[in-house]
Amino acid sequence: MKLRKLRQDTPLEGTRVLVRIDGNVPIVKGRAVDGPNGRIARAAVDLDWLIRRGARVVVMTHLGRPAGKRRSAYSVKPIGKRLSNLLGIKVPVSGAITGPHAKRMVDALKNGQLLLLENLRFDPREEQNDPAFAAELAALGDLYINDAFSVSHRAHTSVSALARLLPSYAGHLLANEVGVLSVLESKVRRPLVLLMGGVKVETKLPIIEHLATLTDQVLLGGALATTFFAARGIAVGRSLVDEAGVEAARALSKSLIKKICLPVDVVVASSLRRDAKTRVADATDVGARERIVDIGPKTRAAYAAIIGKAKTVVWNGPFGYCEVGAFCEGTASVARAVAARTGAATTIVGGGDTGPVLERLKLADQFTLLSTGGGALLDFLSGRPMPGVDLLRIAD
Ligand code: 3PG
Ligand code: MG
Repeated sequence: MKLRKLRQDTPLEGTRVLVRIDGNVPIVKGRAVDGPNGRIARAAVDLDWLIRRGARVVVMTHLGRPAGKRRSAYSVKPIGKRLSNLLGIKVPVSGAITGPHAKRMVDALKNGQLLLLENLRFDPREEQNDPAFAAELAALGDLYINDAFSVSHRAHTSVSALARLLPSYAGHLLANEVGVLSVLESKVRRPLVLLMGGVKVETKLPIIEHLATLTDQVLLGGALATTFFAARGIAVGRSLVDEAGVEAARALSKSLIKKICLPVDVVVASSLRRDAKTRVADATDVGARERIVDIGPKTRAAYAAIIGKAKTVVWNGPFGYCEVGAFCEGTASVARAVAARTGAATTIVGGGDTGPVLERLKLADQFTLLSTGGGALLDFLSGRPMPGVDLLRIAD
C-alpha cells in the first residue's frame, strides 16, 4: 500500500500546513512522558522538516479522552513544551481550537513558525467526523498532513472529514509505518513468526486469524498464553486469565494446533509484589496459590531459536507482568532476540504496552518498525479498515 506524500521539492514558503499528529502520551506531573522514540519525538521530525522549508505549521492532536469537554488536566500544553524542546522554537498553544481567535493566531504566524491547537477532543464534534468542524479546521490551512498512524483507525474529524477538504498527504512517519506494515500484504518473507503477549484475547485473535495462512509459528506469552492454558484444561493457579476469551482460545488451539507454541516453563510468584517469592515451574506444574508472571528460561531459549530463523517477525504485547522489573526478564530476552534478528529479518513491534518497555530496555530503535500504534496496529494487522490511511492511498 502506497500513500500520497508531499514531494520533497514542493515549495512551502509561507504555506499554512495543518498537521495531525498523535501527541497522546502519558502526562505525569504536568510533563509529557515521551522518550527519544516516543510519539511526539517521532512526529517532531516532520514538523522540523516543514519549519525548515518556511511553512507556517498548525499542529493538531488529541490527548486522552476528555469526552468533548474542556478539562484542564487534558490541555495539550505539556505537548507544546515537549515540542518546543525538540524543535528549539517557541510553541504557542491556541486556547480556541477553531473560530476567529484561532484564525487570528494562525494569521499571525510567520514563515517557519508553529502553532499547536488545543486538544481536539475538547470539541465533541471531533469524534463525530463532523463536516462543519472539518470546515472550521480547514479554514486554518492550505494543505493537510496526517502523521498520526496511531489514531488513523478512528473515523474522527481531524483524520477523516478534514482530509477530504484540503489537498491531503501522509507524513513521513505515517507513510513509513504503513509502508513497512504493507509487506505483510504483498511480499512477506517467510518464515513469518508471530509473537503475541499481553492480556486481551479478543484484540489478538483477529490478528492471528487474519495472518494465519501467512504465519508459520505463533509464539504465545503473557496472560494470553495463560488463557490458552486454561482453554486446554491446564491448571494456572491464581494467574490472570481472560475468562471471556477462553472459548475462542480453545477453537483457535484446535484450528492452528501445528502453529501455536505455548511456554513449556514459566516463572510463578506468590503475589505480584516486587519482593514476592518466585520459582521456575513446568507449565503443567503451577500450584493452586501461584501466579504465572513470566515465561521461563527453557521457553526463552526455545523462542529465541525460532526467532533466530525467522525472516519476518511481528510482535505485540509483553510476555510477562512487566510492571515489576523482575518479571520482565522473559520479555527482555524475547526483545533482544528480535532485535538481534533485525536486518536478516523484517521485525515489526508494537502495541500500547510494548513501546514503553522497549524504551526502558534501550532497544526501541533496534527494529525495522516500532509502531506508534496500539489499537491502530491491532486493527491494521487484523485487516480492518483504517479511515485515516485509506483516504491517502494511491495505486501501487
Ligand atoms: C492511542 O493511544 O491509542 C491513540 O492515541 C488513540 O487514542 P484513543 O484510543 O483514545 O482513540
Ligand atoms: Mg487506544
